Formats: sequence, structure tokens, C-alpha cells
Amino acid sequence: SDAIPAAASNIASRTPPYPKLLKKLQEVRQVLAPGRALTLAEKILYSHLENPAESLLTNTSNGANIRGSANLKLKPDRVAMQDASAQMALLQFMSCGLPSTAVPASIHCDHMIVGSKGADVDLPESIAGNKEVFDFLESAAKKYGIEFWEPGAGIIHQSVLENYSAPGLMMLGTDSHTPNAGGLGAIAIGVGGADAVDALVDAPWELKAPKILGVELKGELSGWASPKDIILALAGKLTVRGGTGFLIEYFGPGVSTLSCTGMATVCNMGAEVGATTSIFPFSPGHIPYLNATHRGPIAKEASEISALPDRHNLLRPDAAAEYDQVITLDLSTLEPHINGPFTPDLSTPLSRFSEAVKTNDWPETFGAGLIGSCTNSSYQDMTRAESLVKQATAAGLKPKAYFFITPGSEQIRATLERDETLSTFSSAGGIVLANACGPCIGQWKRTDEVAKGKKNAIFSSYNRNFPARNDGNRATMNFLASPELVTALSYAGSTTFNPMTDSIPTPSGEPFRFQPPQGTELPSAGFEQGNPAFLPTPGQPDPSEEVKISPTSSRLAVLEPFAPFPDSELQNLRVLYKVKGQCTTDTISAAGPWLKYKGHLPNISENTLIGAINAATGETNVAYDLDGATSGIPELAKRWKEQGKEWIVVAEHNYGEGSAREHAALQPRYLGGRVILAKSFARIHETNLKKQGVVPLTFVNEADYDGIDACDEISTVRLLDTLRNGGKGDVEVLVKKRDGGEMRVKTKHTLSGDQAGFILAGSALNLLARKGRE
Ligand code: F3S
Repeated sequence: SDAIPAAASNIASRTPPYPKLLKKLQEVRQVLAPGRALTLAEKILYSHLENPAESLLTNTSNGANIRGSANLKLKPDRVAMQDASAQMALLQFMSCGLPSTAVPASIHCDHMIVGSKGADVDLPESIAGNKEVFDFLESAAKKYGIEFWEPGAGIIHQSVLENYSAPGLMMLGTDSHTPNAGGLGAIAIGVGGADAVDALVDAPWELKAPKILGVELKGELSGWASPKDIILALAGKLTVRGGTGFLIEYFGPGVSTLSCTGMATVCNMGAEVGATTSIFPFSPGHIPYLNATHRGPIAKEASEISALPDRHNLLRPDAAAEYDQVITLDLSTLEPHINGPFTPDLSTPLSRFSEAVKTNDWPETFGAGLIGSCTNSSYQDMTRAESLVKQATAAGLKPKAYFFITPGSEQIRATLERDETLSTFSSAGGIVLANACGPCIGQWKRTDEVAKGKKNAIFSSYNRNFPARNDGNRATMNFLASPELVTALSYAGSTTFNPMTDSIPTPSGEPFRFQPPQGTELPSAGFEQGNPAFLPTPGQPDPSEEVKISPTSSRLAVLEPFAPFPDSELQNLRVLYKVKGQCTTDTISAAGPWLKYKGHLPNISENTLIGAINAATGETNVAYDLDGATSGIPELAKRWKEQGKEWIVVAEHNYGEGSAREHAALQPRYLGGRVILAKSFARIHETNLKKQGVVPLTFVNEADYDGIDACDEISTVRLLDTLRNGGKGDVEVLVKKRDGGEMRVKTKHTLSGDQAGFILAGSALNLLARKGRE
């Protein structure tokens, strides 16, 4: 087609602001002690600081102990959002009243699309079922100048890699696999909607400076080993929590042997070890990829920068850079791995897998092999899988398991169609699904009828395998592997099959053994653009565009700003619920069927705390009103809201652990919750509460938890002064027991000056909106 590829026509907005970043890097150098060497990730992160001196020198000794302690106030270059999380992000952005986003942004409709019978049937059905949400997202995108990728255009991380990621860029994305973009040398971090809004309105986004885990790659992959195996093996070493508080930076001679898309796969699954993000340095593999995706000028500029001496070089670590921890992997001896079931860190080398199946009594057959997704749908991945399909077809074989292929984007789909890779898959019996998340996010209507609760296995080249993740069946064991391994195993239909050593009987009686897969890094005839209807909207704001939200919608509701803090203490808050034990963000705002209400705060609030255990009775989601009447927690909260009665929740340790889900803070606030008084908080949730104007307090003496009961009334003491003092001061609460007794409870808080401002304004957004108007 004659249309100009989107990336080429928007090259200016897609090029990181290199001159500005290089200048900032020199500012950073001046702030730091002379001779302080920086890793690559530090260079890119700190070059995005709003004010390097302020962030790097507070609480640290002359910038020496930045990692793990400094509070970075960052100005990201770009934001990407997927359809499910974009809803609340946009609703919050809208409430700031700004005419356009402060940084370039994109929306990708991918999560709400079912995978079942194939793209032609699934896509129109999913669009029809979610029309009002897609219409809302598109209209808001047009109004505020956000590039909009419609349903079927691609999966967020693949589209970002093909269009937006670039060496030295810093990006926030409202999805946990945003780090995929680190494969092309960007710092890309997954966040909640409220954090994305910080970037969209040009407010600094805060991050505790991560520690840096260096992963040194040596040698070169060969045969069956693929980039996926790097991260599968690493996940086994690090476990799902091993990367927490760390940013993973790859280095060493093995890096230059990897393709750009291979590096993206490795960074993608870094999310599974809890890392803040992962990054590769600007490498030889990036240049052909940038050229092939119409971003030659970026390749050229990045090449020039990476030739600068260390001190000025934004795209390479300093020679003397030190990592907080180093792990070395030899790619030459790396075996293919299979991870799972149920957790991505249970990692087994292929040669030991058949034994593991027997020892653990895992199923010996499996029903479906799924390849592609945001993790593994590159041209290289797909052509390597294709080479195996061709071998098997020539031997007269068909896959024994259902075989599904999810292309990551329209560009890759159209290219694979032109090059007859897709027809090779389809003729073999493969089912090509829409360019969307589908089975990876539970949007999989299985046609092979596995009864709920029945133990069974599947293999995928995806990244997550928590119970019920793919088909809603907690008994389905999902094993993660490279696309080539999943493809070969699908032909055997057996979990104990090792394609490197075992053969499959053919119709002619001859045993068939696979030769190692072979693929092509990039299409020799270039990428196809595909259906032009899937190109994004231009990203220019149009003030005349009306944002489409029907007043009668059950799925979308305009967000009304929360009221500011009163000119007094919080008086007589009633204890809605005293929670016993663990209280995760899932306990506070359940997922599953509730996900469809993510854009409708009143409706999703009907799930508030429904997983919480009543400390007095041990019941789950049973709350008691003053007169002893029982109801669910959300019902009681709503009743009190209607009566104008504000409330408080009392809880135990690590309140709000789990995810960054902002609904877990928004919902209590919406229903009239003002304070959460807990033994301790999960850090991210505590921040989220403050952003939404809820005050998180912790007990000085944990035993005071025992003295408070549901329906007691609590008033704050010196909270207002503390807020007005920029968070400085001690807060107490006065508890009026129902029997007339009183107790004074000492509390602690972690309010910073900015956060005190959020609470006084009613929420962080109220404050941003006010600043925007000034
Ligand atoms: Fe989508 Fe699964 Fe990736 S949900 S964004 S394909 S991790």
C-alpha cells in the first residue's frame, strides 16, 4: 500500500529527546561525587529526573547511596495504556480538566478480545460486546491527542516495540509487562492508572531508586535454545520475588548475539521475578530492527550517542559501573527450559522434564499448545516454529494437541501471511487468533471441553501461568516454554516428549525426529503494514471531540472529584469493619467478573472488601450495623454513605499487599472511607491511598488493635495540623467505644509534604487539576 507507515510519519514524537537527556546526564554528573560510575539503567533513569540535585542528594550521602534509598522524581517521555487499565487512567485524567496530554501517549485495545475459533469470528464478537468501552477510549484518545490502536491492531507491548520503544527512552505503561520495551534499550515501567496520570499531566512520577542486578551474558545460543530460555532459566534462579526492588540490566558479550525481539522477550518476562523493569544496552541487533520498523533516524542518532566517551554516553554503562548483584549465564550451554505449572519460577531443563512429569504426577498428555502473544510473536519466533511445522508436515504428521497462534500485531500478522508462515500453520491445523491477548488473559473459550476442576495440561509461549490464568480452570496446569518447544510438543501431544532426543511415529511407520528449528530474524522483503484500518489515530488533540460516556452505562461513569479535607479534624468516623489477617488488593477489590466495571467506580465499588474476614466473628464479608443487622461490607458502606456517615477500616499487617490496583484505594474513598488504621501497609497501596485522599495510619502499639471494635467511633487528633505542616507532626486517634468508654491511640504515618497536599486537596488529582488551572 502507499500509506506512510505510522512510525515514519510520526518520527519526531517517537524519538527520545536526546539533546535534553544528554544535558541532564551532565547535570547528574555534577551532582554526584567525582568518579561515581553509573550503570546504563542509572544513566537513563537519572537523566529523566526533574531536578537531579533534589532527588539524588536528599537522604543520601553526597549521592553515594542512591540505590534503594533515594526518592526519584521522574519525568517520563511517553505513556502506553491497554484497554482494561486505560479506562480509569483516562477518567482520572479527564477530571484534571486539561486539553491534551503533556507527553505522547497511546492506547491499545487488546485485553478485551476473546480467543476461541479464530480472528475472523472472535474479533467482531468481542468488539460488539465491548463497544461502549472501545468507543469511549477512542473518543477520549481523539479529544486529548492520544494515538489510538483499535481492537485487532495488536497487543500493547508488540505495538510499542514496533513503534515507540527506543534506546534511552523512559516510558510508563499501565500493564505489568511494559518492561518488554527494555529489549530495545528503553526504561519502561508498569504502573497503575493514577501513576500514568502523573506523566500525562506533567507531574513528576515518584520511584524509589531501584538497586541494579547485572545479568552478564556470555557465549551464543544455538540449536533449540532461544531467548525465552534465558528468562525461563533466570526465573528459576531468582524466584518470583527475587527481583523485587531491583532493575535488571543485561551486559556482556552474549548481548550482541541476540536479536532485538529476543531481547524484548527476555525483558518481558522480567516482570515474573518482580523486577521494577529490565533493560538491554543499545546493541547491534537494534539497528536492523529500527530500520525495518521505519525508524532509521533513531538508529542513526543512537549510534552516534553510543560512540561518545563514557562520561557523555547515555546508551552504555560506564566501564567502572558496579552492580548490586551479578548473575552470569552462558548462552552456549543454556538448555531449553519448561516452567510451571502454576508459577513461572518452577523451572525444569528440558532434559529433566519427562522425569519431573513422572515424579510430580503431572499429566502425561496435554490438550493445547499456544504460541505467540506479547512475549513471543516475533518474525524470528514464528519462522522458527514454522520450520518445525514444515518438517512435521513433510513427514505426514499433524499436531496432536490443539495448536493456537496469536500474532502480536497486525504488522507481524500481515508479514507472516505474505510470507506464507500463517498458511503453513493453518494447513497443519493451527488456529490463528486475533492480534490480541485472548487466552493469555483468560479470554479463552476452550472448544476442547475440559470440565472445570479436571486436572489437565497446556503448553504456551506466554509469560504467566497462575492458576486459572488462561481458561478459568484452576486445575489446568500451564507450562511455559519457547514457541519452538511448544510447537514440537504439540505434535507429540505428550508432556514427556523431548524433541531433541525422541522421535514420533509417522503414518508410514518411519520414526520422525525433529531437526533443530531455524528462523529468520527479520523479513527479507520488509514488514507489511497490513490492514490500514488498524493504523493508529494521529495523536493530535481535537477539542471539539465529545468523550462518549452514556449516562446510563453500567461500565463507564465520569469520575466526580472527591471533596477536599474539612477545615477540622475528622470527627466520629465509624469503624465499618475490623479485618482479621491478610488483606490483599484482591481482598479489597476482587478481579474476575468485576473487571468489566473497571471504568465504573460506583458499580465496581459493590465488591469493596468482599474478601475480608471479620475479626470479631471470623465471617467473610459479613458486616454488622449499629442495630446488629448484618449485610455485606459494600452494602453497609453504601448505607452509611447515604446517611452521610464517614468511616474507617481497622486492619492487621501488610494491608493492601499484592498489586498496584488503584481501585483498592478509589473504592473505599468513593464509599466514604477516610482512614485506614492498620498494623502495617504494603508500600504501593499506602501510596495509592494517599493519592486518593485516604489517610493511612499505623499503630504505635500494635496491641491497640485489640481494643477497637466495629461500630466504635474514631476522631483524629492533630491530623489537620500535621497536614498543614507538610506532613510533620504526630497524629493520634480518640476512640469512643460503644459502651461509652474512651481510649487514646498513638499512631504513625509516612506522609510527605506532597502527600499531605494530596489529602488536603481531597486527592492528588484535585491538586493537579488546581495547579493546572493556576
Ligand atoms: Fe496481553 Fe498476556 Fe501480554 S494479557 S499484554 S498477551 S501478558
